[in-house]
Amino acid sequence: MKLSKPEFRAMQSLPRKLGQRFFEMPMFRQMGLDLQNKDVLEIGCGSGYGAYLLNPLQPKSYIGMDIMNEQVELARKNYPQFQFSIQDAEDLGQFGNESKDVVIIFGVLHHIQNWRKTIDEICRVLKPGGSLFLEEPRGVDIKFFDFFFRWGHPDTDFGTKVLDAYLAKRRLTIIRKQWTPVLIMYHIKK
Ligand SMILES: C[S@@+](CC[C@H](N)C(=O)[O-])C[C@H]1O[C@@H](n2cnc3c(N)ncnc32)[C@H](O)[C@@H]1O
Repeated sequence: MKLSKPEFRAMQSLPRKLGQRFFEMPMFRQMGLDLQNKDVLEIGCGSGYGAYLLNPLQPKSYIGMDIMNEQVELARKNYPQFQFSIQDAEDLGQFGNESKDVVIIFGVLHHIQNWRKTIDEICRVLKPGGSLFLEEPRGVDIKFFDFFFRWGHPDTDFGTKVLDAYLAKRRLTIIRKQWTPVLIMYHIKK
């Protein structure tokens, strides 16, 4: 789902960038993120700051995709050296079966009405043994932002219990799961 105006603005802010750079990226690195010579897909790439942080890890290929043309336009303007596409993560049909070594998500599944379809698609595009690095806010924090800042998240059943159950159903293995004050971070393997 497209972001509300307040959340869109917040995603372009300096605090968001600082969090992604100095907290989320180091956490993912600690949890095993290694992109050297890997084919990488970032889902919900927003305005491209993730691409800027991920590409120094020397992937073989990188593509970022997002459902919002406003975000992808910004990403292309900010980082013309990287590849971005406008696409709904419920259908990753543009990518072949078992074509990616790593899929990475910085806070997106909780925006997707049918997030299970996105997990299905990630299963399809990941190579056997490939990794999903996933970071999502906790339910209580989503409610906080909606109450105080009117971010207007979609009303979905997304949460860690249902997510973990669905990962198990799809035979995906949680290698590491880290609770932090605002986020839950996963390293998951196919
Ligand atoms: C909370 S923002 C995070 C943006 C960026 N990853 C970051 O960490 O700053 C969620 C992003 O997911 C995108 N998004 C929401 N639903 C989507 C979908 N169905 N398919 C692809 N992207 C989606 C939004 O447009 C937005 O850019």
